[in-house]
Amino acid sequence: MLSTTIEKGISIDLIDTPCLLVDLDVVDKNLESLFQKFRYRKVNVRPHLKTVKSPELAKLLVKAGAAGVCTAKVSEAEVMAAAGIEDILITTEIIGTAKVERLTRLIAKYPQIKVVIDSQTGIEAMQQAATDANIKLNVLIELNVGQNRAGAEPGEPALKLADTIAKQPNLHLLGVQGYEGHLQLLTDEGERKRLCADAMEKLLGTVKLLREKGHPIEVITSGGTGTAEYCADAGVNEVQPGSFVFMDGAYRRAIGERYGHALTVISTVISKPAENRCVIDAGFKSLSTDSGNAELKVSPDISYRPAGDEHGILESVSGSLPFNIGDRVELIPSHIDTTVNLHDYYYCHRGGKLEHVWKLSARGKVQ
Ligand SMILES: Cc1ncc(COP(=O)(O)O)c(C=O)c1O
Repeated sequence: MLSTTIEKGISIDLIDTPCLLVDLDVVDKNLESLFQKFRYRKVNVRPHLKTVKSPELAKLLVKAGAAGVCTAKVSEAEVMAAAGIEDILITTEIIGTAKVERLTRLIAKYPQIKVVIDSQTGIEAMQQAATDANIKLNVLIELNVGQNRAGAEPGEPALKLADTIAKQPNLHLLGVQGYEGHLQLLTDEGERKRLCADAMEKLLGTVKLLREKGHPIEVITSGGTGTAEYCADAGVNEVQPGSFVFMDGAYRRAIGERYGHALTVISTVISKPAENRCVIDAGFKSLSTDSGNAELKVSPDISYRPAGDEHGILESVSGSLPFNIGDRVELIPSHIDTTVNLHDYYYCHRGGKLEHVWKLSARGKVQ
């Protein structure tokens, strides 16, 4: 426990603010609701831990049926592997001597870790590092299926990479990754489905080509919270959603309420300079703004905006605010991954009673 006053069973009203509050009942529902969709489709779920950044929550995901996990970074994978979560796909290209060496040291200890590659340079670096460390490396080719971020182009360029990988004594081509990140927040569900089908056609068309040319592709992985079902229906055998665990304002506005808001930021009113303006203790350091401002959980006609690192302002369009100095308010982050990354601890409760304080051991891991 963090201090003598923070003990299991206390009311969440006694936790100091600003803080991340996790409603474990809502987490359970979100997990059940997502995993049941893929159980009957017989598609593996490998949740992306860039959302939760915590081994305890990762273990809940594994218990719910996750067939491994994803991390974005080697440093995040180090935290998860050390906590006993060893089947990890690192979904970002690993480039640079320091990082590649760090990766091979990790894989020497945890051989179930696998990585994505999208270039000849990446293949050469991985082969060299794997030889030096005397290990075998499982790799997936990352394909650009429309996001225009990283990823080799589908078809012939991907085949070239596969042919090169097949010649490397220390690399094993396990599969392909094609993440359609550009579609996750499309508000028109019909359009999201249609464009996802197009993206999956690129991915699955390339898988067909690679298999025809003698590359036995086992894993076809894609999908986020906004698209995972459509990817599965198109024919991938693994999906990697992350945000569904907690949800956020941006996702709710895009996909509706299929998952509940399991994480909020609690903040305290520290000043009330005018009837229609309150100042709270949550600003840029507590709530990210890359997807817009957070919103108040129960009062949509009251707006929140950051007013500096440590301050936020609540204003009411309809006049006076129903809060006094010392009151606590609950905010829904606009973007969960970047908000969670600002905090050290999750305060997890059921029915308003504190159950756990979990450290965000994989937050701030940028390497
Ligand atoms: C490669 C990859 N897979 C999966 C995800 C998970 O997506 P979401 O959190 O939107 O469910 C992300 C998110 O950025 C990602 O980059």
